[in-house]
Amino acid sequence: MSKRRPLVAGNWKMNGTRAEAAALVDGIKNGVSSASKAEVAVCPPFILVPLVAERLAGSAVVWGGQNLSVHKSGAYTGEVSGPMLKDYACTYAIVGHSERRTYYGEDDNLVAEKFAAAQSHGLVPILCIGETLAERERGQTEQVVARQLDAVLEKSGISALGSAVIAYEPVWAIGTGKTATPEQAQAVHKFIRDKLAKLDRHIAEGVRILYGGSMKGSNAKELIGQPDIDGGLIGGASLQAEEFLTICRAAD
Ligand code: PGA
Repeated sequence: MSKRRPLVAGNWKMNGTRAEAAALVDGIKNGVSSASKAEVAVCPPFILVPLVAERLAGSAVVWGGQNLSVHKSGAYTGEVSGPMLKDYACTYAIVGHSERRTYYGEDDNLVAEKFAAAQSHGLVPILCIGETLAERERGQTEQVVARQLDAVLEKSGISALGSAVIAYEPVWAIGTGKTATPEQAQAVHKFIRDKLAKLDRHIAEGVRILYGGSMKGSNAKELIGQPDIDGGLIGGASLQAEEFLTICRAAD
């Protein structure tokens, strides 16, 4: 068993009314005890962050944003900044999710800037990396995740990984029902950790690397049981309290 504290983070994506969010977050809160070994987080859409923050205050569950601006404040219509997330006591900010990279043109450099922005405002970035199906089929998985990591390492340095989380999310497994096998996921997680270990063994040993991509109650235990998988970033299955709690228990 690793010394790293597992983290199970829900990424609600663009889902939920206030009523749905309240019911979901209350269901999760009631199922997570402060004695649980795994850390549990939820990342709602920005507009639901205040509601979630209010309902989770003082509970064992923490929360975060799904994205953030690289800027602190100013004339950036439609953006939400790190200080704004911090003002609502967010712990985490997801950066570089593949949906941001694919649909909103976020490249490695911008993701590296968002990573740095999150840290500069006291948020812990959850850095998402992962290859597409075409890249995997061309045998480029390691090359792609290395490139995505290098952008962050070049900008922020290896020490920055001491207060960050990595999420390996193969794009072909996100929302498709096609999960990476535990062996496939473990191989990439080990590659990531080994790559970081070449720069700093201690940081590499401590950084949590989550798996994301169709994780659910029925496959979580096997995935999180792998030596280099330290939890999950959960999309679809985080929208039902019971399913999400099953994953949290699997990580415990
Ligand atoms: P999924 O999404 O669990 O619905 O596959 C994971 C993610 O995109 O973070």
